[in-house]
Amino acid sequence: MEERGIFASINDVLAVNAKQVDRLGGAPQASSAAGDVDDTRDEAGVAQISGAAGSTSRAKVMTRYAARHNGPVGRARSGTDDRSITSGSDFLQLDIGDAPAGGRSQWLAERFRQAIADRRLPVGTRLPPSRVLAAELGVSRGVVTEAYRRLSEAGHIDGNRRSGTIVVSAPAAPPPARPTEPATPPTALFAGPPGVDVFDSLRVAPARIDLSPGLPDLAAFPRAAWLRAERTVLNTLAPADFGYGDPRGAPALRAAVAGWLARNRGIQADPDDVLIVAGVSQALSLLAQVLRDDGIASVAVEDPGSLGVRQHLRNWRLDTTPIPVDAQGLRVDDLRASGARAVVLTPAHQFPTGVVLDGDRRRQLARWADAGGLIIEDDYDAEHRYDRPPVPALRSWLPDHVCYTGSVSKLLAPAIRVGWVLAPARYRDALVNAKRNADLGNAALPQLVLAQMITSGDLERQLRLLRRRHVRRRDAMIAAIGAHLPTATVHGAAAGLHLMITFDSAVDDAALASAALANGVKVQPLSWHSQRAGRPGLVLGYAASSPADIEAGIAVIGQVLRRGVTPARARTPRALADQPAVADQPQALADQPQALADQPQALADQPQALADQPRARTGRPRRNSRAAPTPTR
Ligand SMILES: Cc1ncc(COP(=O)(O)O)c(C=O)c1O
Repeated sequence: MEERGIFASINDVLAVNAKQVDRLGGAPQASSAAGDVDDTRDEAGVAQISGAAGSTSRAKVMTRYAARHNGPVGRARSGTDDRSITSGSDFLQLDIGDAPAGGRSQWLAERFRQAIADRRLPVGTRLPPSRVLAAELGVSRGVVTEAYRRLSEAGHIDGNRRSGTIVVSAPAAPPPARPTEPATPPTALFAGPPGVDVFDSLRVAPARIDLSPGLPDLAAFPRAAWLRAERTVLNTLAPADFGYGDPRGAPALRAAVAGWLARNRGIQADPDDVLIVAGVSQALSLLAQVLRDDGIASVAVEDPGSLGVRQHLRNWRLDTTPIPVDAQGLRVDDLRASGARAVVLTPAHQFPTGVVLDGDRRRQLARWADAGGLIIEDDYDAEHRYDRPPVPALRSWLPDHVCYTGSVSKLLAPAIRVGWVLAPARYRDALVNAKRNADLGNAALPQLVLAQMITSGDLERQLRLLRRRHVRRRDAMIAAIGAHLPTATVHGAAAGLHLMITFDSAVDDAALASAALANGVKVQPLSWHSQRAGRPGLVLGYAASSPADIEAGIAVIGQVLRRGVTPARARTPRALADQPAVADQPQALADQPQALADQPQALADQPQALADQPRARTGRPRRNSRAAPTPTR
């Protein structure tokens, strides 16, 4: 297969490099021909990069060379005497003007020696061919070969015709580490109200088992299909396609997304209605700017609801008015009472409860929108549905009132950073302007590859594969919760990538998450996602972990809970800490009970629907939709 061909060449390259270092054993081996590098081969590589078709072996050389250096060295230049382009090299930022007259080789050797000593050029690095470096520095090739000869004699580099010149040993111990701030224990991130970088801190916190929500099975990323699609795209692209494009996105992707949404979400849209963005998060950021310009300073959000969503809105100085969620979804009467002109909600699979917005609430919401309200529909993981009927998007029947957004973050991987927005006509131009001002449009290649994945059916196949895997993982998590956390209530099992569990007792869920992390298991406390006080709980992602890890992770949480968690040090109640000034508070928020101090009160105040959920208290929890509080429409 073609893909194997590519992997094979990359592996070849790595293997050759490894062998080279291995053969040398990291020990100095002076070569009589140090610096006598294969310039012909590299010039051929340069030609390859600058556009000519070439053999695989040429590509290999450039691949390894480019990957090993900080800056571009291979430039399309004809020979050593063309000195008009630069008088220095990006490589180590060498400027020959710094060298003393008559001592250039010594100066160059010393610069290399320093770079090898401080690990800017670690053992195994391939140095630029002497002819290329000489051309860049504007010196004769002899200056560079002499510098390489000195380094070789000192045992720091080794060169041969086949593999070029390689760093083989460092001259001195690495410089002492710079004094750093005392390391903050990762568990400290649970000690106060979550800051804007809380998800970054959690992501890099070391843990044996990661049950963070929001990720599909990343190990299942369809690498071969992606490569196939990328090759198809690259084979057909015209030079103009590498230029600046339409800020709304590549026409091919906008058409493919329109088709995808029609098939999977019941949305009828013209490709011209589709704006390609860098994920739901960028959609929210752009919208926030547009809404502010429209005089909207406050947006209603679900409570509990995504902390990340709130952070994006607040970054653009929009207040986020919490509206309670119960077993039917967002409480539209509370939304109306709040006076908000716009609301962000997750109707197909509410984050984090998993509740589906039911038919009656949809009708209420439509009436609210008819009176001038804007619905921002975050369809973040709607395709992941296991044992409940499909729920069409609100956008499919309220196109004039709904600004719809989704992405491939939960379908393929968040790292792709591609999503879409379908706005009501009145906001469309302003959104395109905001996107243009943000970044002139998404990167073209991933858009085109994704379009190819959609039209070839590969994305559909991926979704089917993911659903099968996710169901097994979801079932493993429910079983583990039944076994290890029998007092927990399970919510939202019928769809999505995560479960929410709640506890009736006054557990400090941030302290529980902190203790779990200290024991190697990463989870998110429900209180992070709540603005008002509510029952404590955890949000547990299952899609990205194996059933064995899920079982082990939940077992750890069970042990931690049985041992008892010490409440995290005094926290500003989350419900109030990230709210705007009291004067700006809508009545609904001003009336909230205190988040932690009044815990029993908070429990009593739970929406009835959540408090009434069936729970995994005795033995194995009932499975999926029956165990879940996710009513279908
Ligand atoms: C509810 C919700 N909306 C939106 C997002 C952001 O998704 P994206 O990667 O498309 O920006 C997330 C991320 O996890 C999420 O949980």
